[in-house]
Amino acid sequence: MFLKARILIGEIYIMCGIVGYVGKKSVVDILLNGLTKLEYRGYDSAGIAVSVDNKIEMYKEEGKLQNLKNLVEPKKDYLKSSTMGIGHIRWATHGAPNTINAHPHSCTCGKLVIVHNGIIENFKELREELKNDGCVFRSETDTETLAHLIAREYGKVNNLTDAVRLATKQINGAYAICVMHQDVPNTIVATKRNAPLLVGIGQNEYYVASDVPAIIDYTKTAVYLDDNQIVTLTPDSMKLINSFSVELQPHIETLPWESVSLSKMGFKHFMLKEIHEQPSIIRNLLSGKIIADNQPIKLDEVKLDLDTIKKLDRIQIVACGTSLHAAMIGKYILEDFCGISVDVEPSSEFIYRKTTTNDKTLVIGVSQSGETADTITAVKQSKKQGSHILIITNRPDSTMAREANSLIPVNAGIEVSVAATKSYMAQLISFYLLALHIAEIKGSIESAKLMALKHGLITLPEKAEEILDHKKLIQEIAKKYANFKNFVFVARGLNYATALEGALKLKEISYINATGYPAGELKHGPIAMLDESMPVLSIMMKGMVYDKILSNSEEAKARDARMIALTNSDDEKLNDLFEDIIRIPDVDEYLSPIIAIIPLQLLAYYIAEFLGKDVDQPRNLAKSVTVE
Ligand code: AGP
Repeated sequence: MFLKARILIGEIYIMCGIVGYVGKKSVVDILLNGLTKLEYRGYDSAGIAVSVDNKIEMYKEEGKLQNLKNLVEPKKDYLKSSTMGIGHIRWATHGAPNTINAHPHSCTCGKLVIVHNGIIENFKELREELKNDGCVFRSETDTETLAHLIAREYGKVNNLTDAVRLATKQINGAYAICVMHQDVPNTIVATKRNAPLLVGIGQNEYYVASDVPAIIDYTKTAVYLDDNQIVTLTPDSMKLINSFSVELQPHIETLPWESVSLSKMGFKHFMLKEIHEQPSIIRNLLSGKIIADNQPIKLDEVKLDLDTIKKLDRIQIVACGTSLHAAMIGKYILEDFCGISVDVEPSSEFIYRKTTTNDKTLVIGVSQSGETADTITAVKQSKKQGSHILIITNRPDSTMAREANSLIPVNAGIEVSVAATKSYMAQLISFYLLALHIAEIKGSIESAKLMALKHGLITLPEKAEEILDHKKLIQEIAKKYANFKNFVFVARGLNYATALEGALKLKEISYINATGYPAGELKHGPIAMLDESMPVLSIMMKGMVYDKILSNSEEAKARDARMIALTNSDDEKLNDLFEDIIRIPDVDEYLSPIIAIIPLQLLAYYIAEFLGKDVDQPRNLAKSVTVE
């Protein structure tokens, strides 16, 4: 019964990025630039279909987008006159990541082409039916089914918009699609369900894309499509209809975006650049919110008044991956400062059980992208149960942000590297502001402590800069440990989440088997793995649990583990216990996760770089995880 409720809310399965253009300009560079900006959505294969002299031509290549660019480059002069096309960048769901399965896909005669984000759940049944009708399938994808299905409808109604409308009525699942047909010149038809799609409006031209960065270089005026709306675009017209063919008035918005710079600014990788942006991100986030130690925090984004806050009996935070680690720190400080009980759960777990969120629960969804399928579903479920929804995201224009009653945009700027660094930092700062803001309203924190924390926050950017200035030492340590196959990170309290995040960073970009443990748990099992082949990194911040981690580190050392410390202490004892010590500036224990993560990001980065890994686009991953 519960699962049924979930399906009614609508499941969301989207990876990949799509882009389309119809107008007067040469289309190939528009498509390739757009795909470059969408590369964070996948990089298994890429393809474009363009109309050349009223004939459709397709170019597809497996692997990185660069392979497609290399394929198209020698043809650019020939393709120059083409002014309509669609493109796709893929993260494989159905079918291996090879050229045959790359999009666009076409119908049997090749006249109709389609690009698609999403999963057609009933594709197997439809595929059999279409095969019996004589359709010839070339790929293993669910998308190809849709190409044949739309073509079959087109054969009946001889109208591309109607064919798309009738075909999409027959499919289950999620999709954002762009379709062209050789017999319908200068026309793109696009539609969506549970997947983002927007139409950019230019002068006698239209763009379609999964996300703003793909089109923002060309236009700031756009229409976000709602589910089941179908748009038909020609250079001179945009017609929007619903699934019953009723014409709708498009809601035109101005995109609050600047052109997206994808420059590495002299850094070797985006990840390193983004790590270095963190001090200024902290500064910007605090500016205007903490005016002085003795003045209340200004967090107008949070629409919770004293009465509502008093009525809250708990807070539920839902998130995935790195955002989940930020949420764990959020729980710690919200409970400590505000005296409200807080649960944190991976969204993917939360959505498949009977949860008890209600109108007395504040539900916080945390997401860099705002497009993570599981978190969107978790938030929607809780909204249905009457909870106030607060979203902490780097994308205030995202699907998740549209569900928010309160929205905290973390303003980290576009994050290109798949491994999240600066967005984590921005999420952490947002949690501190939120916790202190609620504590201030409730009066649940001593004023001296509150003032000290506000002051401490303001001093953090300089401390973060100091760490970055000393990155050479971390680079040397990285070289020393790069060839170990396993790594353990331990911490206690607030920094347990820092240990998890440090381990995740190392795993995802270097493929080293790194695990984070609460230091006190080592002796309950993991200690059995320790020997001289296992580096153990202890996060030892001065405060309540410092001595405890010291003892846990002694225990690990006694098993011959290679010991590394990350600490803000100048305790001499550490020199005997640890082979390598990364020292960071002193900071209040509560604020320590904010700067303790920076050396761990650098360590992961330098290890991956030393090993020659693809730091910004690690294997098997995509920046927005929009499938379950
Ligand atoms: C972070 O380095 C990861 N690539 C990943 O865990 C990410 O944090 C997770 O997929 C959640 O994404 P979101 O913040 O966009 O929701």
